[in-house]
Amino acid sequence: TRKLGSRKQRTLGLIKPDAVTKLGAIFQMVYDAGLTITKAKMTLLSRKEAMDFYVEHQAKTFFTDLIEFFISGPVVAIEILGDEAVSLWRKVLGPTDSSAARNEAPESIRAKFGTDGTKNAAHGSDTLASAARELEFFFPSSGGHGPANTAKFTDC
Ligand code: PPS
Repeated sequence: TRKLGSRKQRTLGLIKPDAVTKLGAIFQMVYDAGLTITKAKMTLLSRKEAMDFYVEHQAKTFFTDLIEFFISGPVVAIEILGDEAVSLWRKVLGPTDSSAARNEAPESIRAKFGTDGTKNAAHGSDTLASAARELEFFFPSSGGHGPANTAKFTDC
């Protein structure tokens, strides 16, 4: 049942290479926050794919570090569904830098499973618009791999 005034959203979560071994704990934290996982995929990105995904950061000083870390091992992409999923997932993630997260939000994913500003365990789309773009990046609506959209989730 939908709560009055609730806003169901879909967002992209990414478990980065440094936290793939903590996948079980991280999935549990998604559900404990009242969110649902509606799609999941493990993939090892090419350098070009990683650069496309993070294109908005291409001029940043940390871009190379970000890309090298991001392709250092497989990542797990998840589609997350729930009320205010975009902001709620980012709250579960905590601050971008894991060392800051340990002070500011010690129970957050980045505090518990990340290391620093580069190795920060996981990613979340920052707006509904970027969620749409990033979901399309990892889960293209054109499909192409197996049965498309077998799970037609509409509620948690
Ligand atoms: S900005 O400038 O405010 O847009 O940057 P920020 O939101 O802090 O970070 C954007 C993403 O870049 C990653 N990042 C880094 N990667 C590697 N090394 C360093 N030093 C670094 N600083 C920031 C940061 O983790 C963000 O990635 P996502 O995947 O969105 O967490």
